[in-house]
Amino acid sequence: MRRLPKQTDPNLLVGANTADDAGVYRLDRDRALVQTVDFFTPIVDDPYIFGQIAAANALSDVYAMGGRPLTAMNLLGVPTELVPPEVIARILQGGARKVHEAKCALVGGHSIRNPEPIYGLSVTGLVSPKRLIVNSAARAGDLLILTKPLGTGIATTGIKRGITSRALERKAVRAMVSLNAVGTALAEQGLVRAGVDVTGFGFLGHLGAMCRSSRVGALIEADKIPVLGREIFELIKQGCVPGGSKGNLDFAEAFVEWSNVSDSQKILLADAQTSGGLLVCVAPKNLPAVLKMLARDRTLCQAVVGRIERSAKPRIRVTSGS
Ligand code: CO
Ligand code: CO
Repeated sequence: MRRLPKQTDPNLLVGANTADDAGVYRLDRDRALVQTVDFFTPIVDDPYIFGQIAAANALSDVYAMGGRPLTAMNLLGVPTELVPPEVIARILQGGARKVHEAKCALVGGHSIRNPEPIYGLSVTGLVSPKRLIVNSAARAGDLLILTKPLGTGIATTGIKRGITSRALERKAVRAMVSLNAVGTALAEQGLVRAGVDVTGFGFLGHLGAMCRSSRVGALIEADKIPVLGREIFELIKQGCVPGGSKGNLDFAEAFVEWSNVSDSQKILLADAQTSGGLLVCVAPKNLPAVLKMLARDRTLCQAVVGRIERSAKPRIRVTSGS
């Protein structure tokens, strides 16, 4: 993106230069469009669940900006000689279910023949420019709250290898199909101004980008990080770590200081997530209201995992008692 001409439109409130979750374009004083697109190859065998995960993941970037999804379009690529029409229909039905749950209109899409199946959506939402959640507004003293457990990259790698238990698979699927719709409510009530959703770059990668954009540091208590289950650490010990997560950890080493943190905790904190939770910065006075709001959605967790610190460099300190 850096090689493309610089955007100069004054209505472009959030463009590609801040590593935010979605683009934001002002329509008038009170309204801005939020636009995003996301797709990937299957991470579970069940096409209906794959469709739901892909849609929840695509919708999430609108929620992560505090927006309300309005319209969505399917993007589909399939090897038609290998994938029967019923399976394609199940993928699209899974996606449509989540788009419907989000009270968002599915308005069309585009499909091509492709050697590998891919599915996702482009989603357009609305947000008030004053209520936007961005990754550049974190302030020293803010508490960091994570709304879904980590470990989906490890769990899905284990599913592909046939070593993830049924129980863990169910937990991972439940987390990945659940919508981050609470982002809209948090923004509209003015409870959160800074945040991201945790996806491919892992918890540390997305937090690191937020710290860089906001010119702050962070302190994370690794023992407070919610995890899909203890089995995740067993899988890590068996070498069940996606390449992307290893790459994320290598990248994070440059800006993370560890104190007493085990290797498997490090991997977990770097694990590439699919349809991960929101990581939001909350002023201490807003914490009770935010926790109350998160408690309304039983699929979410309400983990206070650390805080934003004043720091000359965008440094993240991670501590553990273990
Ligand atoms: Co995102
Ligand atoms: Co994305």
